[in-house]
Amino acid sequence: MTSGKIPGKLAALREEIERHNYLYYVEDAPVIPDSEYDRLFRELQALEAEYPDLATEDSPSRRIGGAPLPEFESVVHAIPMRSLNNAFSDVEAADFDRKIREKLGIERVRYSVEPKFDGLAISLLYEQGILVQAATRGDGFKGENVTANVRTIRSVPLRLSGSGYPDRLEVRGEVLMLKADFEKLNAAQRERSEKEFANPRNAAAGSLRQLDSRITARRRLSFFAYGAEWEGNPPRNRHSEVMKTVEGWKIPVSACGEVVEGLEGLLGYFGRMQAERRSLPFEIDGVVYKVDDLEDQARLGFVLRAPRFAIAHKFPAEEALTEVLDIDAQVGRTGALTPVARLKPVLVGGVIVSNATLHNQDEIERKDVRIGDTVIVRRAGDVIPEVVGVVRDRRPQGTEPFDLIGKYPVCPVCGSHVRRLPGEAQARCMGGLSCSAQRREAILHFASRRAMEIDGLGDKLVEQLVEKNLVNTPADLYRLDGRMLAELDRMGEKSAQNLMKAIEASRNTTLSRFIYSLGIRHVGESTAGELALHFGSIEALMHAGPEELTSVQDIGSVVAQSIIDFFGEDHNVEVIGKLLEAGIHWPEVGRAAVAENALKDKTFVLTGTLSSLTRDEARERIISLGGKVTGSVSKKTDFVVIGADPGGKYEKALELGIRMLEESAFLELVNKGET
Ligand code: IVH
Repeated sequence: MTSGKIPGKLAALREEIERHNYLYYVEDAPVIPDSEYDRLFRELQALEAEYPDLATEDSPSRRIGGAPLPEFESVVHAIPMRSLNNAFSDVEAADFDRKIREKLGIERVRYSVEPKFDGLAISLLYEQGILVQAATRGDGFKGENVTANVRTIRSVPLRLSGSGYPDRLEVRGEVLMLKADFEKLNAAQRERSEKEFANPRNAAAGSLRQLDSRITARRRLSFFAYGAEWEGNPPRNRHSEVMKTVEGWKIPVSACGEVVEGLEGLLGYFGRMQAERRSLPFEIDGVVYKVDDLEDQARLGFVLRAPRFAIAHKFPAEEALTEVLDIDAQVGRTGALTPVARLKPVLVGGVIVSNATLHNQDEIERKDVRIGDTVIVRRAGDVIPEVVGVVRDRRPQGTEPFDLIGKYPVCPVCGSHVRRLPGEAQARCMGGLSCSAQRREAILHFASRRAMEIDGLGDKLVEQLVEKNLVNTPADLYRLDGRMLAELDRMGEKSAQNLMKAIEASRNTTLSRFIYSLGIRHVGESTAGELALHFGSIEALMHAGPEELTSVQDIGSVVAQSIIDFFGEDHNVEVIGKLLEAGIHWPEVGRAAVAENALKDKTFVLTGTLSSLTRDEARERIISLGGKVTGSVSKKTDFVVIGADPGGKYEKALELGIRMLEESAFLELVNKGET
């Protein structure tokens, strides 16, 4: 390339890159892959390195930051950066509108309405369309020169697009961090074991006020304009038009702005934004109402440091500081223990909050919340209040890390053991059948179509039965009588009778359904089927150890542990006993169709190859009949099953005089009763 062509090439590259920046960061609609963008960027950097004289202030290469500053220069604002008065209620908003109508002598005011961005105010100065200075608000008169940092914000144009812009333009707006970028930043901070930011606003402030702009460049900041000033052309008549005009120069303006009329218009917008707040990509703490007509704005003027023509209508604060008085646990309907912080009551978003969820043990550890701590609580919409974080400076002496299972080795509701299965976040009460916190769910599950199939026992009815203490565990269902049922809400004679019939019919079930109906965690229908087939009886399942359980198809150590924990709970065993006493029964099925426990306490050793079944199958069959299989022959062995090419075990059996079974004899033994 001849050097005469370089300036043109550089300009084209810069424009191209900035166009992609805009498409990516403002429009959220990139048209080239990242790799192509990177290639363009590197090409620009290489050219600028080769021709340093041709480097410019508005080059996108400036967006990656430069050498750290010793300190920020101070900047005097040509027009002071004022603040806004606040309205905290509809009445105060009405007051604002009334005063304006009176002062202007008009019936109905046209307003420009916008989100109140929760970030930091910034002033951008463009001369001849080039960004020459960015300054923070500071005290309103004097701020800090953060130009190098603001250049790294990809959505801020370093050069205005289009034409017709004034020689000198001052844009005012808010620098903020999008919720998604905030989450990513905190995840990265966590990964590096560095301090997390409390909220996007703090993260934005911390990132913008870096003396080293290379750090700012790595933090994804965003910008939205909410005002602009210039002299001369194009004319400025209305705030809403001004915003449209600057948007045309590719300055980012939020799409949430509207023009409305009168108080109804203001309050309508407030309501809409409050409802939309959660789904916006950035945080807002209210909305801003501005008289749209700029001449009217000038007539209204300012009082002290705030304009009369604008006001911020704030959403109720959603965060507050308070003290953790205690941490206890709530047992959910599925048995999950959720740690709950009991708080010194505090007003959050207009509601008194005295409890907040801590989610689970991992969350407690991550935030290191302790009894006695001062914490930030947040109430977001209808969601249960949560503890966001701890104010470490206010931690009293002598606090200790909180351990949920340490405090609750047994369920605070029913006294069953509390366990946390590997890979699960939640600790759980093991008393699934007996715990009153879980009984509604347990009964509904027990009665459900794929479990005991008690038709007509729905939500509402279970609710009543539980509330009236008529049913505490599934076993109580079998003690109900028709008269009692007929007296319940929305239950007539007929439906009571039908329900009694359904309960009666459910006594005749299958082992698989019965196992499934117990609601053992991780034991779904198909696992229940496998267990029924393998064990053949509920007693055998109840007494199974981890090894035997994991020998069943598809059962790993977590499921095995869950089963053992369930049957380890006396409360559950008691309920099962009552269910069996109530006459629940099932036909013996499949491989278990032989007399149950026919091989009880008999020990088998397998040797050689069997022709009609694998060794595993033989093993399974012995176990399902209550027998045991061991690896070596001893005096305690009852039978040695001899296949083709038996090994040393055969000799040993001969030696000890143990009874030997050829394949046919073995099959006869295990299939006895089946044929
Ligand atoms: S207009 C003269 N519009 O709120 C009035 N400010 O309390 C200038 N803010 O420091 C402000 N969103 O940083 C205006 N849509 C919006 C705003 C907004 C957020 C901030 C701004 C200012 C503070 C005033």
